Amino acid sequence: MKKCLIHTEKPYEVVIGSGVSGKIGEYLTSLGLSGKVLVVSDTNVAPLYAEGVADELVYHGFEPSIFTFDAGEESKNLSTYGDILAFLAEDEFTRTDTVLALGGGVVGDMAGFAAATYMRGIHFINMPTSLLAAIDSSVGGKTAVDLPQGKNLVGAFYQPELVLFDTDFMKTLPYDEIRNGLGEGVKYAVLEGGEIFDILSDGLTSDNLEQFIYLSVEAKRRIVEEDEKEGGVRKFLNLGHTIAHAVETLTEYVVPHGLAVAYGVRMMARFACERGELAEEQYAKIEGLLLANDLALELNPISELIPYFAADKKRAGDMITLVTIAGIGDCRLTKLPLDELKSYFGVE
Ligand SMILES: NC(=O)c1ccc[n+]([C@@H]2O[C@H](COP(=O)([O-])OP(=O)(O)OC[C@H]3O[C@@H](n4cnc5c(N)ncnc54)[C@H](O)[C@@H]3O)[C@@H](O)[C@H]2O)c1
Ligand SMILES: [Zn+2]
Repeated sequence: MKKCLIHTEKPYEVVIGSGVSGKIGEYLTSLGLSGKVLVVSDTNVAPLYAEGVADELVYHGFEPSIFTFDAGEESKNLSTYGDILAFLAEDEFTRTDTVLALGGGVVGDMAGFAAATYMRGIHFINMPTSLLAAIDSSVGGKTAVDLPQGKNLVGAFYQPELVLFDTDFMKTLPYDEIRNGLGEGVKYAVLEGGEIFDILSDGLTSDNLEQFIYLSVEAKRRIVEEDEKEGGVRKFLNLGHTIAHAVETLTEYVVPHGLAVAYGVRMMARFACERGELAEEQYAKIEGLLLANDLALELNPISELIPYFAADKKRAGDMITLVTIAGIGDCRLTKLPLDELKSYFGVE
């Protein structure tokens, strides 16, 4: 078992390990919580794990109920959010009660936003069950729902009181979802270098999983602690994301986010090589890592992506701020003229 302590305005622990979900009641008790707990989950995760979590809570004197919604990003909307709030109100939850997210990033984002806003904020516990949620969305305090006009347009910064990731949950996670999480893992590997890069280069196994998640959470911790509300260094987490968002828009989200991020990181590495900023040998290592993890997506022609860069929110006038790769473990925030990107990608 491993623990990270996240020193945000409201400090909290991230606990990672095999079987830790069986201790959820103990953890909540030690945080001084009591009373009602709404376990929010989706239709894939709830049948696997919700009863077990609820039983454990009952055993420790809590009064759990389970709210389940249809799995998938399509559910991350105002309507499901409203249903969660209505459930809380009808069951007369008060500010001393708790919302517990049990699921991937969709569950965590939405349950977190409900916890942040119901009665102006009630206790919130996050139990991520996907790799992506474990290494990315459960840390940092961002909560949100989508609008028809765009993803994550409504939300709040709200830190959980505990994040508990049971590595045994990975046993039921479909291969595509593992790959999706690994795509975000590539981001940390290139930002940090060192052990996390080596683990992913060798390939994730049940033996190094806990350490990989721990190192990823630590990487995100260092960044969000420095920049809780996203003004400065948190921008490094956007590595590969400008290109990823363009790929997602262009393919109408057929390419999953993690795969798009891996592609974005690879393109940024290639771009850095062409600019003479990254050694070919370092590029080869990054490419090797992507190949080892089945993340080397081929997309052509890249020039189709350019109009989408122009719509990126990191753009200001004719300049765009990108996270560029000067080396493995050495990334920079660089303001670049859009024209340079265009000519690199072969657009007139
Ligand atoms: N808050 C943040 O900082 C942040 C960061 C990155 C992503 N996100 C958000 O996270 C969401 C994506 O998260 P995700 O990839 O976890 O998606 P998800 O929650 O939809 O989970 C992916 C799929 O895996 C299933 N699943 C999850 N855990 C499982 C398990 N243990 N066994 C079997 N099936 C399981 C889910 O039911 C779902 O079908 C997006 O909405 C994105 O905007 C938020
Ligand atoms: Zn991402």
